[in-house]
Amino acid sequence: MTRHLLRDDDLSPAEQAEILDLAIELKKDRWAHKPLAGPQTVAVIFDKSSTRTRVSFAVGIADLGGSPLIISTANSQLGGKETPSDTARVLERQVAAIVWRTYAQAGLEEMARGTRVPVVNALSDDFHPCQLLADLLTIREHKGELKGLTLSFFGDGQSNMAHSYVLAGVTAGMHVRVAAPADYAPRADVIADAERIAAETGGSVTLTSDPGAAASGADVVVTDTWVSMGKEEEKIARIHDLGGFKVTSELMALADEKAIFIHCLPADRGYEVDAEVIDGPQSVVWDEAENRLHAQKALLVWLLRQD
Ligand code: CP
Ligand code: NVA
Repeated sequence: MTRHLLRDDDLSPAEQAEILDLAIELKKDRWAHKPLAGPQTVAVIFDKSSTRTRVSFAVGIADLGGSPLIISTANSQLGGKETPSDTARVLERQVAAIVWRTYAQAGLEEMARGTRVPVVNALSDDFHPCQLLADLLTIREHKGELKGLTLSFFGDGQSNMAHSYVLAGVTAGMHVRVAAPADYAPRADVIADAERIAAETGGSVTLTSDPGAAASGADVVVTDTWVSMGKEEEKIARIHDLGGFKVTSELMALADEKAIFIHCLPADRGYEVDAEVIDGPQSVVWDEAENRLHAQKALLVWLLRQD
């Protein structure tokens, strides 16, 4: 059966762990799997800007023996003239999988309903599940077993990253804390889904507007830009509203002494995180950026096996 990754909870705890195991194997031996040898093509579509996602999918698809076809919606028919489902029906005749960075989650769902090939969310307004696979891989490398670790997110609790940390974190059995102002709290339906998963895995999700309480004893400290793509007009208000949730050295000092700092990047130093934290000894952001490659290759290998 065709499987898709549209949001983090599309993967069960066992499936998430299987993909992370495969990512570790592929990081040790980059050429271990060639499911796209032939070569087959994977369409990688961007409605928004990207550095890491574009590079890691292009390199990863080539590593797997395939050929990446990078499409910008600015010069394709998708995004105005043609619906996601019609585009899906055209692409499925020619490509092995579709990777799409877009705005609305509903567009991804329509694309997935319309096609027999796997569809991967390469970031939407609501979720960034590919980033989470890389982040969990990075945390596993630095902290060992994920289950039972405390991950604390600071800032815009409604961002795609916050929603993905909540869902993917509890899927891994982690305790996820989100520190955000009340107006920026994660979506209630995402929290309800996370609580259902946490009841199975032993994880938990806690919302607070007290950054110090969220940081206390944390194993992983994480933030995201205060101004996600598409929110540029709200920049001044967001800087004002989220100012108290910056990750500073003082905040890091409240976390466990062996805590790591992660950030999906790109980062705005001096806003959501101080330079001395992101460029300091507890930061593992460059490992995290590299791990996009290994995690996404593992995801593609796994998805192509399910057909
Ligand atoms: N973290 C991330 O997705 O980066 P890009 O926007 O550069 O792809
Ligand atoms: N929340 C950010 C993530 C960038 C990778 C955004 O959507 O712009």
